[in-house]
Amino acid sequence: MSLLPLAAAAVAAPRIPLRLFGRGLAATMSTSGSLKSVDYEVFGNVQGVCFRMYTEGEAKKIGVVGWVKNTRKGTVTGQVQGSEDKVNSMKSWLSKVGSPSSRIDHTNFSNEKSISKLEYSNFSIRY
Ligand SMILES: *[C@@H]1O[C@H](CO)[C@@H](O)[C@H](O)[C@H]1NC(C)=O
Ligand SMILES: *[C@@H]1O[C@H](CO)[C@@H](O)[C@H](O)[C@H]1NC(C)=O
Repeated sequence: MSLLPLAAAAVAAPRIPLRLFGRGLAATMSTSGSLKSVDYEVFGNVQGVCFRMYTEGEAKKIGVVGWVKNTRKGTVTGQVQGSEDKVNSMKSWLSKVGSPSSRIDHTNFSNEKSISKLEYSNFSIRY
């Protein structure tokens, strides 16, 4: 048997724990980093186009909490909370992406603030 596989294993082995450590560190940093909260309202063709369902899916994918609902004036409104970078990703999605059949004309954000803890345990659709 050659020594090569052993040498390769010795080199490869430390990479696994290191990579896991890196990921754990990133997760710790994002949860202990500053949290923020923002209210949003999306204007355009955003009702009857699965906008809320896609918003919930995106929020869960990114890892933010909060809520989304239709308003009587044809817009979609809600609140997003999470680490600053995640909330920023969600703001960008709410401004530029939306559901596949929607048309976003404008999204306004208000009441943007730092919070010390999340006020929701998940992201939900309100009726
Ligand atoms: C968005 O703007 C509208 C009109 O300017 C305002 O009535 C509404 O409260 C705003 N919504 C949010 C979440 O800031
Ligand atoms: C989501 O959170 C809301 C309150 O923020 C709660 O009423 C609801 O039961 C939660 N749903 C799940 C599936 O955890």
